[in-house]
Amino acid sequence: MSKNSKIVIVSNRLPVHRVKRNRSYAWETSPGGLVAALKPILRQQPNTWVGWAGYPGAAPKPFEQEGIFNWPVPLSKDEVENFYEGFSNRTLWPLYHDAVRPPEYRRRWWWPYVHVNRRFAETAAEVVARNGTVWVHDYHLQLAPAMIRQLRPDVRIGFFLHIPFPPQELFAQMPWRRRVLEGLLGSDVIGFQTRLGAQNFVRLCRRFTDAHGTRDALEFNGQVTKAAAYPISVDVRRFEELAESPQVIRRCEEFREKLGASRKIILGVDRLDYTKGIDIRFRAYQELLRSGKASLDQCVLVQVAIPSRERVDAYRELKAVVEQYVGEINGEFAELGRPPVHYLHRSLSAEELVALYRAADVMLVTPFRDGMNLVAKEYVATKTDNSGVLVLSEFAGSAKELTSALLVNPHDIDGLESTLQTALNMPRSEQSRRMRAMRRVVKRNDVFNWANTFFEDLSA
Ligand code: G6P
Repeated sequence: MSKNSKIVIVSNRLPVHRVKRNRSYAWETSPGGLVAALKPILRQQPNTWVGWAGYPGAAPKPFEQEGIFNWPVPLSKDEVENFYEGFSNRTLWPLYHDAVRPPEYRRRWWWPYVHVNRRFAETAAEVVARNGTVWVHDYHLQLAPAMIRQLRPDVRIGFFLHIPFPPQELFAQMPWRRRVLEGLLGSDVIGFQTRLGAQNFVRLCRRFTDAHGTRDALEFNGQVTKAAAYPISVDVRRFEELAESPQVIRRCEEFREKLGASRKIILGVDRLDYTKGIDIRFRAYQELLRSGKASLDQCVLVQVAIPSRERVDAYRELKAVVEQYVGEINGEFAELGRPPVHYLHRSLSAEELVALYRAADVMLVTPFRDGMNLVAKEYVATKTDNSGVLVLSEFAGSAKELTSALLVNPHDIDGLESTLQTALNMPRSEQSRRMRAMRRVVKRNDVFNWANTFFEDLSA
């Protein structure tokens, strides 16, 4: 297997997941732009992807899948509880998302976070070739860069944070703030989704560590780190191709017919996460129907909610709230065989998803805070005929680029309701003008461009 890897990717999850087929297990490549973007780069050279296989207990043996060498790292049941569900998803996740739920600071979660980061770092240090490159991803592994640097001072180390990096006042709450910043400072290049994230990081480093300098050259422990924005994107061509494939076009027509050909389709697609503002979207839709400014004859809402982190209480609570809205709105406005809300609590295949995007007249992306939000970019990538309206939260990273969307403050229910009404009534010419502008943006910076730019800076 690939010890001596010129390039090593490290992320909490491997780019594959285990599926049960008949009575045995097999690996399937996970959907998502990150794997797609890195595949062409990884295939050119000896590589390893270090990550968790997604279930507790002993890790399977390293294996190759589609040109990528997967090196599974084990997590015990306790580590899943304390490192993954606890520190990663009950401390860091809410803290980094503007504390939309109160972050919990538990000392018994911190040490598992340190230990698991060390395990990932040791594995990366073991497999990377002399003068090779290690690229660490996301909030689960913020201590790993400094740990890798200590074990392997010869390698280049990059880090990319997929979620927002919080402002000083919030980050300062965290009891382990200095340790986290120093962990990240082990990197040569740290990528954030937005300039604001990079700025927050640099200010915090100056305040809580001995680092000094600027965003381009932050010096700490005799080493220089660059902190910059690298907004992630999607595989635009793949979405375009799928959108224009005969089976997707057929499926899209079926959806339109089933939902009522003359009705406008409003779509939401999210992991079922409290940062996504799914509840607030239902509230605005409910009020729009109640006010009579839109009716069952004119529109229908389809919400796809992909199950996520189901053992964490805040996620269970959100599910109950969302399902209560679905029940309430349908109870109040449905006619037999014609509900105003269609709710799917499951993931969809890429074809089904793209067919839905294609069918949707209005796409609602209303997170309270989001690192980027790739659903917004996927929708734009799919709309090859320049139709459709994107309603986008100004607190999503993608709002910095997709400025021709209808931008909303998701905390403002009246504003959301009136924007939804504007979206439903937008003339085709204005849709087209806005969508064209957004398509230019996503085409210019697709996910391949994102990965290449990061690697260029890392090897500079
Ligand atoms: C976000 C994070 C990813 C994470 C994904 C799914 O997008 O930035 O790192 O993999 O959510 O969450 P999960 O907890 O299932 O890995």
